[in-house]
Amino acid sequence: KPRRAVISRFTSSRLKALEPQIRAIAQEIMQAAQGKDTLDFVDDLAGDLPTAVICQLMDIPRDMWKQIRDWSDMQTSSSDPDLGGSEEEVLQASIEMGTYGFELACERKDKGGDDLISLLINQQVDGELISEAEFASLFVQIAVAGNETTRGLISSGMYELLQRPELYRALEAAPEKLPAAVEEMLRWTCPLHYFRRTASCDTEIAGTPIKAGDKVVMLYSSANFDEAVFERPMDFDIQRQENPHMAFGHGIHLCLGANLARMEARIFFEEFFKHFAGVELLHAPSYIRSNSIHAFKTMPVHLLPR
Ligand code: HEM
Repeated sequence: KPRRAVISRFTSSRLKALEPQIRAIAQEIMQAAQGKDTLDFVDDLAGDLPTAVICQLMDIPRDMWKQIRDWSDMQTSSSDPDLGGSEEEVLQASIEMGTYGFELACERKDKGGDDLISLLINQQVDGELISEAEFASLFVQIAVAGNETTRGLISSGMYELLQRPELYRALEAAPEKLPAAVEEMLRWTCPLHYFRRTASCDTEIAGTPIKAGDKVVMLYSSANFDEAVFERPMDFDIQRQENPHMAFGHGIHLCLGANLARMEARIFFEEFFKHFAGVELLHAPSYIRSNSIHAFKTMPVHLLPR
């Protein structure tokens, strides 16, 4: 039910209308970085866009954006001792975030607003409004789901371009190739390694018997290199005609923000190329310690001014 309530906000026509707003945010981020000589690509460049986009969608006051990102990071990076907190702190962050979302929902109930929170709290699905508990959990889910993942896609994608300077220059010269490049970045870098399901009945997957109650891991990052599906899977190739990667999952829980994330990444790179003449890695990036998140923790870079 909650999925159906928000899905209208993620249709392509809605997303197209968002493009100028996302571009304005990206430009602001680039301009803020222009004054700095060296910075952390993950934190200072890639990180701000996904949070700003989600917060704008939900019309969250600007002075809370940093807090939303901190709450969200606390939940996604808890397995990394440099980033996460204790179990209690993670739980606390989730409760505080849910409570904050709930307060916003109460303020916006029956006020006729057009933001995502107003839509969620005022729209009926199958004749019913979303319950308070459903809302709080959906608020946390949407805010968390799009942060770390999209930041990971942008940072890891840039890293792959830096490994292939000729590709970096080709995309800079022909940014219309970015959508295909972003697709290949998704396949190659796969920001979330896996999700898990519990089998509800006995079945079989590719000859392997699965019993009801078994926990089954869907390893997207393995599927993305399946030689039965992809030609030359170990080549980073933005020319692929078909790219049926699994970075956004599969089936009924397919990522709701997939097209939003694609658009954010494309706009990010378009604006980056316009604002900077190039970028140099200062030293190798470090990974977040996590079984499920495949993303950099830091990526120190030197930006070349235009
Ligand atoms: C590169 C960026 C992203 C990646 C790699 C990614 C990946 C995924 C994956 C693999 C799933 C499937 C979960 C499952 O099967 O249980 C998922 C679900 C979801 N994603 Fe994303 N995501 C990204 C960006 C976003 C953004 C920007 C948003 C929203 C603002 C978002 C919102 C959601 C939501 C709400 C779900 C749950 C859908 C459901 O359970 O029906 N994601 N995402």
